Amino acid sequence: MARLAGRRIIVVGGASGIGRATAAMFAQEGAAVAVLDRAADAAAQVARDIGGRATTVDVADPASVDAAVREAASSLGGIDGVVNAAGILSSGGIAETTPEEFSRTLAVNLTGIFLVVRATLPHLRQARGATVVNIGSGVGLMPTGPGTIAYVASKGGVIAMSKSMAAELAPDIRVNVVCPGLVDTAMTAPFLRDASGAVRPELAQRYPMGRPASPDEIAAAILFLTGAESSFVTGIAMPVDGGRTFH
Ligand SMILES: NC(=O)c1ccc[n+]([C@@H]2O[C@H](COP(=O)([O-])OP(=O)(O)OC[C@H]3O[C@@H](n4cnc5c(N)ncnc54)[C@H](O)[C@@H]3O)[C@@H](O)[C@H]2O)c1
Repeated sequence: MARLAGRRIIVVGGASGIGRATAAMFAQEGAAVAVLDRAADAAAQVARDIGGRATTVDVADPASVDAAVREAASSLGGIDGVVNAAGILSSGGIAETTPEEFSRTLAVNLTGIFLVVRATLPHLRQARGATVVNIGSGVGLMPTGPGTIAYVASKGGVIAMSKSMAAELAPDIRVNVVCPGLVDTAMTAPFLRDASGAVRPELAQRYPMGRPASPDEIAAAILFLTGAESSFVTGIAMPVDGGRTFH
């Protein structure tokens, strides 16, 4: 039986990578899906592919978030669940990261989630079994060495903020975080492979599983945390990282 039959879900960042895989899996599981993303054409294409709706949003802009959530809620007839998968990568240590880049990274990866949850709250409060799944990162659980100061700060914030949201919104709305390790998406494409197209061994060997995840492997965890099978799970930050953070 379809695990999300009758659920109305918005997938923010659904035009690419983990969000796109999630939107497709959710549609296959019977959900009505609205894809919200800054990349308007790609979002429209995903919506066509999965039989969903598309809405343009910049999650760093409060007015844009409010308008997009209003539009999605009206086209879906309500909102029962949210997946926050929009994000940007920022590389650079303390000295190389400008204040503007630091602020922008937090604005998209952290404040964006706050704004989306804030805007969807009135709809989620009217739903039964409402869920929020935010995408953190393994680096938010166990920060890597030097080099991604703004990104790590944003992901640590996502995990802490989501636990606080879970406490505030229980028992009616469950809030959980999925913390992926390395995933084969547009975000990692610039550095994941060498010239021959092979995954760089120095990256793969950080993971006991010895490889990056596919977006579907992350979407499967998001599906679990959105569906009724996880009805007693809230406030967790679930690593889906090929074992990187357990040792
Ligand atoms: N790929 C990985 O290895 C990895 C690992 C850990 C965590 N993550 C996290 O997973 C999430 C999804 O990443 P992905 O790998 O699928 O990347 P991706 O680049 O394939 O997809 C990110 C999506 O977010 C959208 N987006 C970016 N800025 C936006 C904004 N301001 N407003 C609205 N949409 C915006 C992009 O248009 C894109 O569609 C991100 O939060 C990322 O940090 C990714």
